[in-house]
Amino acid sequence: MKRKTTEEYLEIIYVLQKREGYAKTGKISQEYDITPPSVTEMLQKLQKEGYVEYTKYRGARLTEPGLRIARKLMETHRIIADFLEIIGVEREMAEIDACQLEHHVSIKTMKRLKDFVDFINGAPDRPRWIDHYHDYIRTGKRQECSLFGAQDGRRPL
Ligand code: FE2
Repeated sequence: MKRKTTEEYLEIIYVLQKREGYAKTGKISQEYDITPPSVTEMLQKLQKEGYVEYTKYRGARLTEPGLRIARKLMETHRIIADFLEIIGVEREMAEIDACQLEHHVSIKTMKRLKDFVDFINGAPDRPRWIDHYHDYIRTGKRQECSLFGAQDGRRPL
């Protein structure tokens, strides 16, 4: 089992806290397959850094700075998962990969990914080229576009 990073912990605590009010040591250990002493050690470290309030036997809750980071991570996660789904990755896989990628993407790239996802998800109609693209990954062939055929020399949309 690989060690979880601070960011990963903040995400885990956020999810459990939302669901149960507190992120209990036992719950973190069970659900994420981490030994209880490692969890306790990490929660104490996060408390020292000001990201959580940790009460023995009760568990951890995020402080305002901890919450801010966790919310940002959840947003980054959502954007990456949406992006992966748009380009044809199944949602379940997209969620798993988003959880890895979210810790490694630069702010500049994230900004572009957000613009792209907002542009597609906020479009009044699903952009036609997306259907063409999905067709392409399914068949390996480009669709002829009815609007711009080969006869006028323009590339299909
Ligand atoms: Fe995640």
